[in-house]
Amino acid sequence: MAISLKSFADIESMRPACRLAGEVLDYIGPFVKPGVTTEELDKLCHRYMVEVQNCIPAPLNYAPPGYRPYPKSICTSVNHQVCHGVPNERPLKKGDIVNLDITTIKDGWHGDTSRMFIVGEASILAARLCAITHECLWLGISQVRPGAKLGQIGAAIQRHAEASGYSVVREFCGHGIGRNFHEEPQVVHYGKGTEGPTLEPGMVFTIEPMINAGKAAISELADGWTIVTKDRSLSAQWEHTVRVTETGVEVLTLSAGAPACPPHIQITP
Ligand code: MF3
Ligand code: CO
Ligand code: CO
Repeated sequence: MAISLKSFADIESMRPACRLAGEVLDYIGPFVKPGVTTEELDKLCHRYMVEVQNCIPAPLNYAPPGYRPYPKSICTSVNHQVCHGVPNERPLKKGDIVNLDITTIKDGWHGDTSRMFIVGEASILAARLCAITHECLWLGISQVRPGAKLGQIGAAIQRHAEASGYSVVREFCGHGIGRNFHEEPQVVHYGKGTEGPTLEPGMVFTIEPMINAGKAAISELADGWTIVTKDRSLSAQWEHTVRVTETGVEVLTLSAGAPACPPHIQITP
């Protein structure tokens, strides 16, 4: 399967899904406090998507080949959980860091975005991991323009993560997105920078670096979904859905509450 190019009409159709995904994160942020369970966050997001936004939570019952159906509406990855954490009854406690990953389907189109949230107050180490990973996301986004190689994204991310003393998860990557949750291309978050196809206007994909404070190795829990660091070190992830424009990049999952691009990183619109 080749990389599908989205027309301007397609992009207009994708905008609502992408904006709504960002707005779920805006909505849920204030609920992320010590004592709340990820199960409660899942229920709140589910209700907001279905009853307020009139969209579909894409994760619910999502079953790619080799996976059992995902049982919840959002992913909640706490501390050493890397991604695909399944919401549960354990209350969050002060100092936890949690990634909330939201994917909506609106009118048949997908939007996918995630952010890190600090529960109460984080250690300086945990806060730095979240901040550097956010920089990694935006450094990746800053590489996107027609004529660039897809691999430049991963190279920029790996350089910054490793220069900061962290490691990049290899087994999971960003992805093309549109009418399907996961399409080509695979957007890896490491590399030399010369790899992959040349970017063209109309390509739409996610960038979603998973950065570990310790080693890069991961393992899967018995639930068949939750990914954790093997060494139990903290892990962080941020995600946006972006499109290649005629001249640069547009971030489709921005919303009022989305943390801005760090000021030292230049984006070409
Ligand atoms: N939202 C995740 C991503 O960024 C995928 C989650 S799959 C699920 O690609 F089934 F766990 F929701
Ligand atoms: Co994604
Ligand atoms: Co996601």
